[in-house]
Formats: sequence, structure tokens, C-alpha cells
Amino acid sequence: MKLNEHFSALSESYLFATVAQKSAAYAAAHPDKKVIKLSIGDVTLPLAPAVISAMHEAVEEMGRKETFRGYPPYEGYDFLRESIAKYYADRGVDVPVSDIFVSDGAKSDCGNLPELFGEDNVVLVPDPVYPVYVDTNLMAGRKIVYAAATKENGFLPMPDESVKADIIYICSPNNPTGAAYTKEQLQKWVDYANEREAVILYDAAYECFVQDGAARSIYEANGAEKCAIEMCSFSKTAGFTGTRCGYTVVPSALVRGGVRLRDMWFRRQSTKFNGVSYIVQRGAAAVFTEEGMKQINENLAYYRENARLIADCMDKCGIFYTGGKNSPYIWLKCPGGMKSWEFFDYLLNEIQVVGTPGSGFGENGEGFFRLTAFGDRENTKEACERLYGLLKK
Ligand code: MLT
Repeated sequence: MKLNEHFSALSESYLFATVAQKSAAYAAAHPDKKVIKLSIGDVTLPLAPAVISAMHEAVEEMGRKETFRGYPPYEGYDFLRESIAKYYADRGVDVPVSDIFVSDGAKSDCGNLPELFGEDNVVLVPDPVYPVYVDTNLMAGRKIVYAAATKENGFLPMPDESVKADIIYICSPNNPTGAAYTKEQLQKWVDYANEREAVILYDAAYECFVQDGAARSIYEANGAEKCAIEMCSFSKTAGFTGTRCGYTVVPSALVRGGVRLRDMWFRRQSTKFNGVSYIVQRGAAAVFTEEGMKQINENLAYYRENARLIADCMDKCGIFYTGGKNSPYIWLKCPGGMKSWEFFDYLLNEIQVVGTPGSGFGENGEGFFRLTAFGDRENTKEACERLYGLLKK
């Protein structure tokens, strides 16, 4: 028996699992202290009423012989795929229904999409970025090269002609920095990928947070349908972190070596995935109704206000930060030259606030720290008071 030896290239535990373990251990040892978690980007507001009522109705349908449903279509129900296509069309982006695949979330698709590519491809990943891109490719034994996202380039690395890359990950708005590419900047990435016959895996999980005219989809750039796959999710948009639903666009026009990647993805999904439940897909479709959109926008405004509170606190403490405008994360420089995990321990021990160490997102994240705006308002306010008490100039 031979195990997958590539697992030895991974760190012992997944970033958010390590953070959760450490904060749980602290809470168990200090039952008298209230620990406030501003770490993993998990939502705290309930599902929108429009979503709940659509799901209730779907439950009723599942309880009647005439309306009961068995296995869902592998690519998702047309009612949801059509709503997603319209969501794109309303923003002036043309995405055909047939290119949309509904899934149980962007994380799974992100982890599964690399199966379409051979082992020898070179993967280009921004640093810092969502750790799933790196970890899943390490598991497959691929070579990874990094594009540094630093304060100097506004946390938005641009293509480097001298770098050879076959698979290019872009996350915009970026997790963790919150930096978001403009359409013109994305055009440069698309041209770079098309020239090299590379494929872009574009993570748009935070598109709904864009406020300043930055791009919300890679397909805003010309020719992107010939080189890019886009993943998106209802998790951050509509609070589906525990409900699980997302979607990925694999354009029919994306062909490599004479093979349509859309067909490969369909083959992969139909073999390994039995779809998202009817009840959840009905809930997801309700997000796109007029009422659903209004309700989820109220929730997004709540999280934006949390981001503003955290950003204000950083301003008052004189701490450099970015993000919080086009994203629900504040990306801050650890004060006093502290390293990321050092600052994590300092905040946990001194004021019982948990964040995510920047070094967990890549080497360039060392010395940085991420706080999420997805928390409950009262807890966010309390965390800000504690942070101000500890870190004020
Ligand atoms: C994060 O905190 O970066 C994300 O919520 C984690 C995830 O979506 O898997």
C-alpha cells in the first residue's frame, strides 16, 4: 500500500481548523472568559425570509407524491441556472445557462476543478490568498509559483511575462486582503492566459461586496470565455455557509488540446457528484427574486457596517489596514512588528478576540492579520472596544 506522498507537503492542519482548535482550547481552559471570534468568514445573520419560505414550500412538495423529486440534474435545476444567468445578464455579462453548474459551494469546486488538469502543469497563485488553492494543488503534487500581493502593488499582482504558468488562480475581491481588480486589470490577465493557453480559475465568492466599480466577474473582460472558469457561492452573498450551495461557470468556448473543459467537468460531476438538494436549490433561486435581493442586501449592509466599525477602530489605533470596502475582511498590519501568530496569541490571551493570522494565507501575509465583518453586531462592537483598549496609540 502506498499513500499519497504529496500530503507530506501540507502543513499539519488546515488554517481555519488550527485557528478553531486554538480558540476552543483557550475557551475550555478559561470558562469564565467570553471569547469573540472574528476569524473564519462565517455569517451570523439568519437566512432571508424569502429563502426560508421557498424552502418550506419545497419541503411540502417533497412530501406529496405528485411533486416529489428524486435525484436532481447533475448540473442543477434549470430554474436556478436560469436565475443565475439572469443575475449575470443584469450586470451586462452574458453567461449561457448551459455553462452553469450548481454545486454545494465554491470550496468544493475549487478543490475539485484541478482534477481537470495534468500533474505537470505549473500553478500560479497570488500570495496571500485563500489557502485552499495551494493546499489542493499540493495534494496533487503540482508545482506552485507565487505572485506577490504587497502593499507596494496595492495587493493586486499583475501578469509577469517572464513567468510560465498553466493554471492561474485569481480571487477578486481578494480573500484576505479585500483588493479588487478593475475590468481593465482583469483584461491583462485574460490576455496573458489566452496568449499562453493557460486557464484562469477565478473565485468570485465576494463579488457582492464590490462597491466602487471594480469588476464582479472575469467575464467582464473580452475573451475570458476562452480561458476562464468562474466559481461563485451563496455563502457570503446570502448566508448559505451552513446550507451549502454555489455555482461554477465552465464556458463551452474554453477548449484546450481540442477538448471542451465544460464536457470534462460534466463528466467529472456526473461521475462523482449527485447534485444539490431540490429544497436548497429552491432556497437559492429565491435569492434572485425582487424580495430576496432586497433582503440579502439588508444583510450585506449590516456586514458592511461591521466592517466600517472595525476599520474605524483601526484608524483610531493608528494601525495600517486595507479591505473592508469591497470585501467583508479587514487586513491589518500587526502592530509593534509582531508576527501573525504572535499577534494571534496576544489578542487571544489579552482580550479574548480571535482573528486569522495572515501568514496562514501565504508568506507575504506574515506580519498581517485578518478580521471578519461577518460577526454579530454586538460582539463586533465589543471586540472593537477591547481592541481599542489594548492597541490604542
Ligand atoms: C474564510 O474565512 O476565508 C472563508 O470563510 C473560508 C471558506 O470559505 O472556506
